Amino acid sequence: MVKSQCFNIGSKNKPCRNKQQIDEGRLHLSMRRAERRDIDELAVMSRSCYSYLLRWQGPLFHNIKRWRLLLDTECCEVWVCSSHGQIIGYFTLILDRQQYDEVDGKPHPGLLVRLYMLGVSPKLFVTIALRKLKRRIHRSLRQLFRSSSDDDKMAGSETLKRLEDRQVPWVGYVAVTPAMQGKGVATEMVKLCAQRAVELGHKEIWANVERKNIGACGLIRKAGFVVTEGINHLMFAKQL
Ligand SMILES: CC(C)(COP(=O)(O)OP(=O)(O)OC[C@H]1O[C@@H](n2cnc3c(N)ncnc32)[C@H](O)[C@@H]1OP(=O)(O)O)[C@@H](O)C(=O)NCCC(=O)NCCS
Repeated sequence: MVKSQCFNIGSKNKPCRNKQQIDEGRLHLSMRRAERRDIDELAVMSRSCYSYLLRWQGPLFHNIKRWRLLLDTECCEVWVCSSHGQIIGYFTLILDRQQYDEVDGKPHPGLLVRLYMLGVSPKLFVTIALRKLKRRIHRSLRQLFRSSSDDDKMAGSETLKRLEDRQVPWVGYVAVTPAMQGKGVATEMVKLCAQRAVELGHKEIWANVERKNIGACGLIRKAGFVVTEGINHLMFAKQL
């Protein structure tokens, strides 16, 4: 089983957006499976990288709990990427989507955690609360006035269900610490993610990305994935 891999990224094989970094020379990356000792760093990084995801904006102990669950489960692999001994990125390879969603959905934030989230990210908190409310209203209205176009949409979600049954691997979280973004780090991580899927015997890998996350969509496209379906979220697939 692959435990760790090393990569060099330099001006020759990656045209960096940050020109200063090119002049500073090659970036040496090493990737390995995350361990318990990495949890504190993962908890801090996930908060700074996923500033748009409320779930990572709670107190650190809450992030630590979530990482512990992700590290302990067999439904995904967590990898960290380091440069000069410092963790600068991580990714998750999802091996069982249904189980992963359950694990990732835990731990449910209690009242204190919610208050903390409201205190540190009031705008995000309110936006997400309103979005949830809107979705609930839509769902109720749809149940009241069910039309054929709704049946089409449900057929779409059937595709997703079939994929879950087949246990196609998915690219999960991919994050690079803000100071190291734009240097090709995530590209190397997604490559390794696909390589791991091949090693585990898969012939296809999927990714689900929010359409408005331009960086993530660009990254996934660049890694050779193609859009298969989606409205707000784009579903990408790659043959391995
Ligand atoms: C998305 C993210 C992982 C990209 O990491 P990165 O190391 O900067 O990515 P790379 O340097 O390998 O860039 C790969 C491609 O992604 C796209 N991309 C990355 N950042 C971008 C940005 N800010 N704007 C537009 N495109 C971007 C580009 O197409 C880029 O290719 P190019 O350099 O040839 O133009 C990083 O911005 C991040 O951690 N974001 C927060 C977490 C997140 O949203 N993760 C993805 C969803 S799971």
